[in-house]
Order: sequence, then C-alpha cells, then structure tokens
Amino acid sequence: MAPTLFFLVLVCSSTALITCTNGGGAGLRMKLTHVDAKGNYTTEELVRRAIAAGRHRLAFLDAMAGVGGGGGVGVPVHWATLQYVAEYLIGDPPQRAEALIDTGSDLVWTQCSTCLRKVCAKQTLPYYNASASSTFAPVPCTEKICAANYFHFCDLDGGCSLIAGYGAGTVVGSLGTEVFAFQSGTAELAFGCVTFTIITQGALQGSSGLIGLGRGRLSLVSQTGAKKFSYCLTRYFHNNGASGHLFVGASAGLGAAGHGAVMTTPFVKGPKGNPFYYLPLVGLTVGKTRLPIPSTLFDLREIAPGIMVGGVIIDSGSPFTSLVRDAYDALAAELTAQLNNSLVPPPGDDDTGMDSALCVARRDVDKVVPTLVFHFRGGADMALPPENYWAPVDKATACMVIAAGGRYRSVIGNFQQQNMHVLYDLANGEFSFQAADCSAL
Ligand SMILES: *[C@@H]1O[C@H](CO)[C@@H](O)[C@H](O)[C@H]1NC(C)=O
Ligand SMILES: *[C@@H]1O[C@H](CO)[C@@H](O)[C@H](O)[C@H]1NC(C)=O
Ligand SMILES: *[C@@H]1O[C@H](CO)[C@@H](O)[C@H](O)[C@H]1NC(C)=O
Repeated sequence: MAPTLFFLVLVCSSTALITCTNGGGAGLRMKLTHVDAKGNYTTEELVRRAIAAGRHRLAFLDAMAGVGGGGGVGVPVHWATLQYVAEYLIGDPPQRAEALIDTGSDLVWTQCSTCLRKVCAKQTLPYYNASASSTFAPVPCTEKICAANYFHFCDLDGGCSLIAGYGAGTVVGSLGTEVFAFQSGTAELAFGCVTFTIITQGALQGSSGLIGLGRGRLSLVSQTGAKKFSYCLTRYFHNNGASGHLFVGASAGLGAAGHGAVMTTPFVKGPKGNPFYYLPLVGLTVGKTRLPIPSTLFDLREIAPGIMVGGVIIDSGSPFTSLVRDAYDALAAELTAQLNNSLVPPPGDDDTGMDSALCVARRDVDKVVPTLVFHFRGGADMALPPENYWAPVDKATACMVIAAGGRYRSVIGNFQQQNMHVLYDLANGEFSFQAADCSAL
C-alpha cells in the first residue's frame, strides 16, 4: 500500500467523505434497468417472477418486524430480491460493475476478486480487483465510519471488517474507499469489498452488489451529502427497452417528463437506526368510494419502549404493494362490489400464487377497473391507474397485485411507482411525486 494512498483515505474519511466527492456539484445520474430486461420473458412470466420475489421480501419484512420490533434495533434491513440495476465504473483504471438499488438498506458493496469463488455469488461481470486499482484504499478500523456499519470489527491488519445481513442472506467483507463513476457524476465512497457471500441462489440476479439509498450513514445518499434523490421507473411491460433513472444530489428534482400536479407529504420519523423511509398514509379511495377504515390504521406505533410496529414504507426493492390485513380486506370488498359481474376466477394453477386474488378478463381491465387513490397527510393524493395495480397473469386474465401484507406494516412497492417521478427531499423531510413519462427522461 503506497503511503500517499493511505494519506488520502485519512484525509477523506476524517473530514467526512463529502469533501472528496464530486457528486455534490451537478449530482449523480444513473440509468436503471429492470433485472428481467435481458431475460426475454413474456409479460405473464414477468408477473410470476415478480410475485415470487415479492413473497420472499414480504416474508422477510414480516420476520424482521417480529424480531426487531419493526427493525428498530439498528440492524440494516434487508433485501430479498431487488428489481432495478445500475451500472457504474469503480477504480482507476475503471472496472465495470452492476448494483441493485435499494432504498431499504444502507451499505454500498461489491464482490471482490479476493472472494473465495465457492462462497461468492455468480455475477455477470468479473469481480472487482482492488489490487488492480490505484485509487483503492482500506479503511482503518479506528475510523468512525467503520462503526457506522452495525456489525463491524478490527481485522488483524487493522482494517475494518463488516457483516451485513439481508433477507436474501449475509455478506462479509472489509470497508475500503474507491472512486465510483456513474452515468454522470463521480463520488469517492466507503464501500464493502465483499469476500464472502451467503445468499439465496439467484438473489443477486447476476449483479456485482448493492447500492443502499437508506437513511444510514453508509448509504450513497448520506456519503455524498446529498440533500435529495429522485427516481423515475419506466413501465414493467411495453416499455420498448427504455430505462428508468436515479438522480442523487443536485440533479434530483421533479418537472422533467412530468405531467399533472406535484404532490408533497412529510416523511414519518422512523425508528432510530432504521434505514426505511416511512410515509403518512391516511386512507384509500376506490373509484368514488372512500374506504371505511380508520386513518390511524397505518400509523407507526410504539407498543413498548423502543418497539415500533405498523407504518408504511416506500420501497424500491419490493415489487408489489402490500397492505395490512384490515386495509386489504376493505379494499377487496369494495372492489368486489364495484366489479361485480366482471370478476372472473383466478387462474387455476398454483404457481401464480394468485389463488385468492381479484381478477377480471384481461381485455376488460381498462374498461372496468377503477382508479385507486392513496391519500397521504397534507392532501397529497397518489392516483393509480389500473396498470399500476393490476397485472396480466395469463393470456386471458389480469389480477390485482396488491397483497394482503405483513401483520405489522404496509409496503408501497415499485410496481405502483411506474411512470411516476418520486423525490425524496431529505433536507426538508418531504416526499413528493408526480405522474411522468419516465421513458422521456
Ligand atoms: C426471445 O423471444 C422471441 C419471441 O418469443 C423468440 O423468438 C426468441 O427465440 C427468444 N430469444 C431467446 C434468446 O430466448
Ligand atoms: C488482480 O490484479 C493484480 C494486479 O494487476 C493481478 O496481479 C492479479 O492477478 C489480479 N487478480 C485477479 C484475481 O484477477
Ligand atoms: C355492477 O352492477 C351494477 C348494478 O347491478 C351495474 O350498474 C354496474 O355497471 C356493474 N359494474 C360492473 C363493473 O360490471
């Protein structure tokens, strides 16, 4: 390790990594590709894959809520299967890498060539080789940022070893710093150089690692000192290959490609140490009917000191929305009443997982399915056209893809966020959204 590099690390990390970041100027921009985009899947196959992915993630979120009282113990939470991939370059000379994007966790990590192959996941691109980069430097375990990862310890060389747990499994590595170059913008980031990966097969989807966008200190957002980020996800289906985009820092904002009103609601303060973004959902309207559910149904509640339950998180890593049981039941009852003669039985085969779903003939969706509105505190209404909450599951049938969710909390998934530009304004503690043509960004 050349002394100059070591010096650079100390300067960067002891004065907060922000000083070493170019991202603060124009901000970062990343192209987002759906993980299934290269798979040549039919529309129905895409939906089935998303349903399976959603089940894993939900089971996990539920388990977390049970164990950690809503994840309030500072354990990073947790990807089961993620959906959107960003490409970037790491190091000098630059090496290509791909990361899944997760608003539900913090750490940025990539698998390293020092990985023992048998315990690292397969990825499409070669593993990142730190020895081949002049800009890599390890982070000493005495650095404050080492302690920002919940599980960390000093290794024999004085480096910062870390463990990060997810729904899909666990990764082990060491913290280093590197130069990351995105579609536009660069940043010097502390990241996990992962050398041991025990995750569900296929969960990485061929990617090299993860980019966490959560509230914690190690997320891309926090490290670049970004006061805001925004993303715009193109349609799951019929998107003609157009990519979505993620903007971090100055480049984030609504307006471009947007149409209709910009709606704004305050974030709900989540449990300490929890990476999630909570939103104040207060009600739902189906067509013209407001559902008869109490506005407190979605509240985040402290049931014992330090134990929080409930709440609604917005998640880039869950495909589908899930609602706490009482809300789901009210929604299903109202839709059943409004769709009466148009309802058809769900497809018979078991692997769709849609055995109790509400379904109509595929050709009828746009004619009969009403708009569903999510009402957030402050008068912010998120209106979902049928295609943002119904999906084709076989050649003849389309079903509602909002699930009866966790016992403890509701999740707003990314299917619901299609063709919507969403802005996380962290400086002002506000979440904004606007209908948009995301393929035009
Ligand atoms: C992709 O799908 C098209 C149309 O169904 C098919 O003709 C083609 O062979 C598929 N390609 C691959 C690589 O599977
Ligand atoms: C990593 O890079 C170094 C220096 O270029 C090289 O000697 C080594 O073989 C590379 N390791 C792998 C696994 O490619
Ligand atoms: C449901 O039934 C009512 C009255 O029977 C009818 O007016 C309405 O059009 C039906 N709705 C649908 C979607 O079929």
